[in-house]
Amino acid sequence: MTTIATKAIDRVEGPAKVTGHAAYPTDVKIENLAQAVMILSTIAKGRITGVDISAAEKVPGVIKILTHQNAPKLPYSQPKERPVVEPRGGGQPLKVLQNDEVMFNGQPIGVVIADTLEQAELAAALVKFTYEQEAAVTNIEVELEKAIKPQNEKEPSRGDVQKAFATAEVSIEQTYTIAAEYHAQIGPFATVAQWDGSHLTIYDSTQWVGNVRDYVALTFGMDKQNIEVLSRFVGGAFGSGLRTWPHVILAVMAAQATNRPVKLQVTRSQAFTSQGYRPHSIQTMKLAATKQGKLQAISHTVTTETSSYEDYFEIITQASSMLYTCPNFQGEYRLSKLNLSTPGPMRAPGEVTGAYAIECAMDELAYQVGIDPLELRLLNYAETDPSKNIPWSSKSLRECYQKGAAKFGWSKRNPQPRSMRDGRYLVGWGMATGTYPARRSPAAACVRLLADGTIEARSATHEFGTGTYTAMSLIAAEAMGVEIGKVRFALGDTAYPTAPESGGSLTLASVGSAVQAAAAATKSKLFELVSADRDSPLHGIATDQLTVENGRVFAKTDKSKGETYVEILARHHLDQLEATVEAKPGDESQKYSMHSFSALFCEVYVDPDLGEVKLKRFVGAFAAGRIVSYKTAHSQITGGIVGGVGMALTEQRELDHHLNRIMNTNLADYLVPVNPDIPPLDAFFVDEQDEHVNPLGAKGVGELGIVSVAAAIANAVYHATGKRIRDLPITPDKLLG
Ligand code: MOS
Repeated sequence: MTTIATKAIDRVEGPAKVTGHAAYPTDVKIENLAQAVMILSTIAKGRITGVDISAAEKVPGVIKILTHQNAPKLPYSQPKERPVVEPRGGGQPLKVLQNDEVMFNGQPIGVVIADTLEQAELAAALVKFTYEQEAAVTNIEVELEKAIKPQNEKEPSRGDVQKAFATAEVSIEQTYTIAAEYHAQIGPFATVAQWDGSHLTIYDSTQWVGNVRDYVALTFGMDKQNIEVLSRFVGGAFGSGLRTWPHVILAVMAAQATNRPVKLQVTRSQAFTSQGYRPHSIQTMKLAATKQGKLQAISHTVTTETSSYEDYFEIITQASSMLYTCPNFQGEYRLSKLNLSTPGPMRAPGEVTGAYAIECAMDELAYQVGIDPLELRLLNYAETDPSKNIPWSSKSLRECYQKGAAKFGWSKRNPQPRSMRDGRYLVGWGMATGTYPARRSPAAACVRLLADGTIEARSATHEFGTGTYTAMSLIAAEAMGVEIGKVRFALGDTAYPTAPESGGSLTLASVGSAVQAAAAATKSKLFELVSADRDSPLHGIATDQLTVENGRVFAKTDKSKGETYVEILARHHLDQLEATVEAKPGDESQKYSMHSFSALFCEVYVDPDLGEVKLKRFVGAFAAGRIVSYKTAHSQITGGIVGGVGMALTEQRELDHHLNRIMNTNLADYLVPVNPDIPPLDAFFVDEQDEHVNPLGAKGVGELGIVSVAAAIANAVYHATGKRIRDLPITPDKLLG
């Protein structure tokens, strides 16, 4: 177990970001860089019957117009093992410009490459496509009957749910829906592709440089050694950067076809069909309990939408299967195939969806049995993981409940709906429990000590606002015994030691453990050097009796005996000393169930005349193991809460089911929360030691923050109004209707 302290330091890349020195893919400056603009389909299903480029090709500066008629045929080889973020349920990815088939409205069907962006945009608008249109369906309600069971989906079950419901003293059954949601990250994605003979360099907005390299290699039939993918900064992603989407392939194809380096920027509007989204979901939750509120059975049935060509599904029934002690559980999952682009991971994919349903259903059960919602959760507290029958690696949820409730003043709540008012506003208090798995993947890192006593560390991981630069710098600084200012951490390059996808909140646990291990290996080399060196004051001291602090090696038993890194490297005429280590998880996930937890409390004001819901207060207590980098972790959590407020109150795709087209592909009509929507958020971490989860003892916080926020708000709205809205977002029309 390490001694990494919680550090509240500023983001190390902050100055580069605010001064414009941080190079996002959109900022890449290459001589002779051409600009590519995608053309998207305007029908949802059918075939392209004609392409007229006569007007477009006359636009000055146009270099090339690619459509299925002239695009190169690509091998699109299938990987032997599918990356974890590809849809696991079967189907084939969209093969861009490979045939005349249209499978959704907004599908890329052409790309124009020109000297300037303006020229490319004008020409793209002048290309005329004609179609043979077929009937399309984009309404999940229409297709529900035809929903299929996804391949490879494990439906969790235990006990005998049927029997438990037949004999239940109390039961509830309700259906909860969540509108499709979009990442709406502040920086729309961009890709720059540059060929140099057979070598390809790609600057990309991604959460997984290694996957971009491998996917492009397979798609173009290339040796992956000939591809380098760079991604130093990404302007937000929330899961949308986990796959290699068609625009990346188009950028590479465009650069190849024009013999020019090419930049392709996805526009804000195009992003709505270019990078996945949280699928619209319909969940039926059935709970059986004793009159005293002890859970007897949970049945959780889910349908989500997917595209016609890929079966994307999420792990939605996990939270409901493990949050509470309950002897009988049944999960079921169905997919409705629609003429839409394939959904994809979006912040806590699956977990946030499932937790919303179970946490609203628990609130409904609390009213049915007449028990306080927090009491009901404590009554059913799971001391071990009921879904796996193994102990938790650590669980501080009880402490989250206690501290969160105390800070919020939950004990002063009048349980009666519509009982609390402030002037003309109805006041509601709601709560919910959140959880997210603590994952870890193999990862490698290099830590290098330089002759000037500074540290360079690197790994092919990612920074998309998450705090990776800062957290990794802290870990390297701590392990090497230097100030953080002496560390430079580099990431986002396939040439660096391999790291996994930055998704599933696993970066800190995976890459952080690798940085720590690489630092330990570098220190070992240093210790061996001085121990064997007759000229060192540390000569002859066993390496396990040496330690470091303030850039100096010294004897554990006698701090005065030692020498600095600079002295050691100078005497040995070394420019550097380095080690690269791959760190892997062991069998801890077989022995322990590893999750972070949260307890969320909120107050809403509802305008009884206008149906408007305003979040007034929010208290969230979070337990996620060791918090390595306090400020960036806190930002992750509060950002997650803001995302949850959007899910609860404003964010939704508006589909026109006649045009089968998304109508709100902009940030004026797709409403993410803005400053006036968010009161000061009181989010805090409870101390949690976890000796099992990974060498850092850190569970990761990228996704925990958003889980169950919408449930807490929905429960507060019920408490305020007496009206249970089970369809997110809770917009005024639903409250007044
Ligand atoms: Mo997250 S949706 O795994 O980036």
